[in-house]
Amino acid sequence: MADTSQKPNTKGLYIKTYGCQANVYDSERMRDVLKPLGYAPVDSPEAAELVVINTCHIREKATEKVFSELGRLRDLKQANGGTLRIAVAGCVAQAEGEEIMRREPAVDMVVGPQSYHRLPEMIARLSRKTGDVLETDFAAEEKFDALPKTRDVSGASAFLAVQEGCDKFCTFCVVPYTRGAEFSRGADAIIAEARELARQGVKEIVLIGQNVNAWHGAAPAHDGRGGEWGLGDLIRHVAKIGGVERIRYTTSHPRDMADDLLGAHRDVEQLAPFLHLPVQAGSDRILKAMNRQHTAADYLRIIERARAARPDIAFASDFIVGFPGESDADFEATLQLVRDVGFAQAYSFKYSPRPGTPAAGMQLQVAEAIKDERLARLQSLLNAQAQAFNDATIGRKISVLFSRDGRRDGQALGYSPYMQSVHVDGGAHMTGRMAEIEIVGATMTSLKGRLVAATAEATA
Ligand code: SAH
Ligand code: SF4
Ligand code: F3S
Repeated sequence: MADTSQKPNTKGLYIKTYGCQANVYDSERMRDVLKPLGYAPVDSPEAAELVVINTCHIREKATEKVFSELGRLRDLKQANGGTLRIAVAGCVAQAEGEEIMRREPAVDMVVGPQSYHRLPEMIARLSRKTGDVLETDFAAEEKFDALPKTRDVSGASAFLAVQEGCDKFCTFCVVPYTRGAEFSRGADAIIAEARELARQGVKEIVLIGQNVNAWHGAAPAHDGRGGEWGLGDLIRHVAKIGGVERIRYTTSHPRDMADDLLGAHRDVEQLAPFLHLPVQAGSDRILKAMNRQHTAADYLRIIERARAARPDIAFASDFIVGFPGESDADFEATLQLVRDVGFAQAYSFKYSPRPGTPAAGMQLQVAEAIKDERLARLQSLLNAQAQAFNDATIGRKISVLFSRDGRRDGQALGYSPYMQSVHVDGGAHMTGRMAEIEIVGATMTSLKGRLVAATAEATA
């Protein structure tokens, strides 16, 4: 939890995070980078000397939020006599850094996702009023080498970035432009960071990357076998670290779903039986226009292989409706794919044309009203599947990692191996622990659980 009161000689730091897990990780690492300069987290922009907006560029709405947020911060800066420092980080900073500087003079610094290790120098240049305060180089390797080796984490679960960037160039997507080329961190550095997290009491490690299953690296010398590791090998080694009770990874691309990773699902006890594998659409014509480089049948084959490796594996996916040229028949093919798989969870979006991407200039853009209607139909099918999946856990005992207090007094909130959130009344003392919980109720978005007698006694 962030401090509410400021200690003497510290400067208040407020970071607001939009977007995906990569941004959540980057915000945590920015805190680590700024800590030696005396910056400590505070609960509101009003209490801060430095505010960082960590932005997302993925859809138009996400980008719009940045400018409205900056307007509010400009007023705050004026109100406190201009001493507040404002930094814009993340994917909008990368894509529209110059424009931000021009449109919003209250902004002091702009820093891209691969450059935030330079924040201390940028702050120094700002106080000396010399040099550039816009850093948007793509230097993923340099960044990871420069980040502090220690991490300041408080929860039971933590993200660990293993891979950055994307070379896939789906025609709708800005990520290859905002995050740069695919880069895999070295296995030794990742394992060292995983050990550091375990040392701090983290029980669940979530390996993250824009294309996390594209991760690959030279096997460390201690492996003995030499050659290359894939994500499956990395997971097997992270699982050997004492204290690591659960491992997840996200987000994967269908083209990089190697046997070795599915083998890890078969063999590694701590690896959660859950696969978030975005498919976007079920029509081969649309998948081709999106440059996804796989067909609907390819996707269904992966699902089959995953089920063969781990029969209780659950699936999540991302969908886009209303991609340019999507016909009623194309959309029906998406619904059919959803019925064929049966998803536990999903994220679905209306196609949003993004500046500089090939799809934004395509003919036959789909009318907003049709996108709305398709999104509603897709979501009602996905919601029914999520409800059915959750209902099927009622009566079962499943392991839950308790991450924080629930909204109600004495309630604890945790996550099942299938990424369902689980609320348990009278479980506040469970935060930070993993325990077997009996599921007694389900909605579309969460489960209600009860402490099993043996667990309650053992942990009381
Ligand atoms: N690297 C991941 C996730 C990328 S962004 C992957 O390849 O799956 C997360 C999701 O946002 C995507 O899966 C996609 O469903 C959605 N998305 C990306 N660009 C979009 C756009 N222009 N309009 C609507 N949704 C988009
Ligand atoms: Fe975007 Fe496609 Fe890369 Fe995912 S794989 S980040 S959707 S370009
Ligand atoms: Fe958004 Fe950048 Fe993530 S655009 S989804 S914050 S990679």
